[in-house]
Amino acid sequence: MSGAQKIPAVVLGGTGYVAGELLRLIAGHPNLELKAVASDSQPGEPVAKFFPHLRSSFPDLKYTSQEDTTALVASLPTSAVLSAAPHGVSHALLDSLLTAAESKGAKPRVVDISADYRYSTAAAYEAVYKHPHGAPDRIKDFTCAVPEQLKTLTTRHVGHPGCFATAILLASVPLLKLGLIEPRLFVSGVTGSTGAGRTPTAGTHHPQRHSDLYSYNALGHRHTPEVTALATAASGIAADFCFVPHSGPFARGIHVTVQATARKPLKTAELVAAFEEFYRDSYFVRVGSDMPRIKDVVASNFANLSAVASGETVAVMCVVDNLVKGAAGGAVQWMNRMLGLAETAGLTAPAPGWT
Ligand SMILES: NC(=O)c1ccc[n+]([C@@H]2O[C@H](COP(=O)([O-])OP(=O)(O)OC[C@H]3O[C@@H](n4cnc5c(N)ncnc54)[C@H](OP(=O)(O)O)[C@@H]3O)[C@@H](O)[C@H]2O)c1
Repeated sequence: MSGAQKIPAVVLGGTGYVAGELLRLIAGHPNLELKAVASDSQPGEPVAKFFPHLRSSFPDLKYTSQEDTTALVASLPTSAVLSAAPHGVSHALLDSLLTAAESKGAKPRVVDISADYRYSTAAAYEAVYKHPHGAPDRIKDFTCAVPEQLKTLTTRHVGHPGCFATAILLASVPLLKLGLIEPRLFVSGVTGSTGAGRTPTAGTHHPQRHSDLYSYNALGHRHTPEVTALATAASGIAADFCFVPHSGPFARGIHVTVQATARKPLKTAELVAAFEEFYRDSYFVRVGSDMPRIKDVVASNFANLSAVASGETVAVMCVVDNLVKGAAGGAVQWMNRMLGLAETAGLTAPAPGWT
C-alpha cells in the first residue's frame, strides 16, 4: 500500500497515556495516517505539549474538539477510530460520532479501549459499573475478545478486553478450552502505575507505589466479571476466576500467575507443549520454558508466557505491556484485521529490553 492510500486514523481521549501510545504506534504504522486527536480538555493545544517524545512525528499537530473530530469522521468515506476515552464517557462519544457518520454515509471502523463495549448486554455492564449504559443499541455492533482467541469477527466494531484481562485470558483460555483443568482459576496479577492513567490519586501516586507492593480490590476487582464472561465466550467453558490484583513498583507492564487443578496429572513439558501448539500461529504470543519477565515485553505488543505442572497443580505465568498489548497495541492489532491489513502491521518492534 503506498503512502497515498493510507487509511485515515482518529484517536479519542487525546491527552491520556493510552492515547499517547496510540499516537506513537500510528507514527510508525505503514498503512495508517493520523488525521485528528480529539481532546475534551485541550482543544487547540499542541499535542507535543503533552507528549514531547512525539514532537518529531507530529510537530504541528493540535488537539481537535469532539465536535470537529465527529465532523471529520463523518466527512471521510472510511476511517479507523480508536477510543482511549474513560469508561462511562467513551460510549456516548462513539455513539454521537457513529450517528453523524451514518447520516453522511461514512463507514468508520471503531476499536473502543474503554470498558464500555466489553459486555454483551447493557444490564451486565450496569451491574458492574453502577450507571446506565448510554448507548445500549450499539452494543450488538461490538465484539470483545483477545485477537488471538477469535478467528472470525462478525461485528463491525470491537471492544478491547483491557490490560489485566488480556494477560489473564492468554494464560487461562487454553487451559479451559483444551479441558486440562477444573474450571476454578486462582489469579494473582501485578500491574505498573500507568495502568491507573494520567491523574494521580492517593493510592496510585508515585511516592505511594514506589519501592512497595500491595494488593487491592482482592476478589472484588471490576475486571473479574469481564474476564469470566470473555473466558466463557472464548473457551466454551463456564469457569470461576478468583483474582487478586497488586500494585507493582514500576511504571508499565503486567505479570499474572494463574493457578488451577489439573483434571489429570501433567508434566511441565506436556503443558508447555500444549501452549506452544495453541499459540503456534499467534505471532505476538511467545511460549517458552523460561519464566516470563516484564522487561522482555514492555513497550512492545508481545506477550511472553510459560507454564509449570506439579502433579495436579498447574501454574501459568504471562507478561504483557499494559499500554501496548493490553491497550493501544491490541487495539491496532484488531484494527489491522478489520481493515484487511497484515495483523502485525506497525506492531513488530521488539521491547527495548532495558527500561
Ligand atoms: N492505562 C492502561 O494501562 C489501560 C489499559 C487498558 C485499557 N485502558 C482504558 O483506556 C482508556 C484510557 O486509559 P488511560 O490510562 O489513557 O487514561 P488517562 O490517562 O486517565 O486518560 C484518559 C483521557 O480521557 C479523556 N477524558 C477524561 N475525561 C473525559 C470526559 N469527561 N470526556 C471526554 N474525555 C475525557 C482525557 O483526555 P482529553 O481531555 O484530552 O480528552 C484523559 O486524558 C480508559 O478507558 C482505560 O480504562 C487503560
